[in-house]
Amino acid sequence: MSFRINLFRAVNALSSAVDFVGVDDAMHGKRVGIMACHVADLLGWAEWRQRDLLYASFLHDCGVSTTEEHGHLVSELEWSNAQGHCLRGAALLGGVPLLAHLALVVRHHHTRWAELQKLDLAEGIREMANLIFLADRLDVLRAASDTNQAMTRRDDFFKTLRKYSGLLFKPEFVAALEQAAASEAFWFDLEPQNLQDHILEMSVRTDAAVMDFEDLKAMSLMFARIVDAKSPFTAEHSMKVAELSRFIASGMGMSDDTCDELEIASYLHDLGKLRVPDAILAKNGPLSDAERLVMKRHSYDTYETLFRLLGDHPIARWASFHHETLTGEGYPFHLKARQLPIEARVLAVADIVQALVQNRPYRLSLPPDEVRRIVGEMKDAGRLDPVVVGFLNENLLQCWAIAGGGLEEGRLAAE
Ligand SMILES: [Fe+2]
Ligand SMILES: [Fe+2]
Ligand SMILES: [Fe+2]
Repeated sequence: MSFRINLFRAVNALSSAVDFVGVDDAMHGKRVGIMACHVADLLGWAEWRQRDLLYASFLHDCGVSTTEEHGHLVSELEWSNAQGHCLRGAALLGGVPLLAHLALVVRHHHTRWAELQKLDLAEGIREMANLIFLADRLDVLRAASDTNQAMTRRDDFFKTLRKYSGLLFKPEFVAALEQAAASEAFWFDLEPQNLQDHILEMSVRTDAAVMDFEDLKAMSLMFARIVDAKSPFTAEHSMKVAELSRFIASGMGMSDDTCDELEIASYLHDLGKLRVPDAILAKNGPLSDAERLVMKRHSYDTYETLFRLLGDHPIARWASFHHETLTGEGYPFHLKARQLPIEARVLAVADIVQALVQNRPYRLSLPPDEVRRIVGEMKDAGRLDPVVVGFLNENLLQCWAIAGGGLEEGRLAAE
């Protein structure tokens, strides 16, 4: 299948999902990237090196899926448990061929400069990791300030950072960052709208690699893992939804290309959930109206992110229509049956079935008969596609097993 996406555009779009974990202060990775690039620019780094620095900065916190862990990382200058997300992030990047060379950078973005000297690493990796560490810590120091407050508090920030020069950070980087931060533009650049414009401008003048379908798949898988790591109750959710949608689509006779695209849409369908606070996702009981609104936002956030990644490609729509129903009562677009393509209908059923098969905070995994009953009721109410549900019923045990139940247990439960 021919598929050509600019790598810069993909990393930028998908890094917004990583940034969602910051919930209200949601552009951390991008601010770190811009600040680090100011320093790299001053130090005369080559363009390709600055591009790698930007990719690594955008994705440096991809190992953080929970809002709780994110809270620690942005409130403590040196958090004792910081290494966990570095290791997870490195493992995730290692699985994406176009980005695997940045895995060690992410691995060491909380390693002290003094420590880095003792490790057997290329100097380029060491420097990139440490520059991200430094920019990251400045972003943490400025987190609670608006632009004017940040400029007023600039000397305090650098008093703190200078204290760690040589120990945590490469001294040359601290000096260059202080020099860059002396300009007002440095701080204005960090405001959300300016940040977006600045990045857009960089993407236009950057000669980025082009991704093909396999690259997109590898990156989508990486993000499925990030989303699924959000809570133990959603472990493997996106992965299983992908497997099940593919099984249903191919069983219903859709082409290999469509199955491939539906698989990608399924990996990415819950991207927006990264913005839902852990407490809501893991709540043991009914959600309040306000919590429900927060939850319902996720498929719109998926849409926004995928639109930036794929433009008007159907994958973006199939993924973000997974909570729509044929009756128009779904969310967030309240689409009608004629607006819902068959691929989106398959994904919606696969999503529901996987969720029913998974243990959730408020109930245990459901056996095949219960899944058939609940999905059947939704179909009878006109919400789900009857042909897709028909296929599910004809292949119930297999679908149930793919969704996460064991085939043997399914058979026993069905008897
Ligand atoms: Fe960070
Ligand atoms: Fe969802
Ligand atoms: Fe889902």
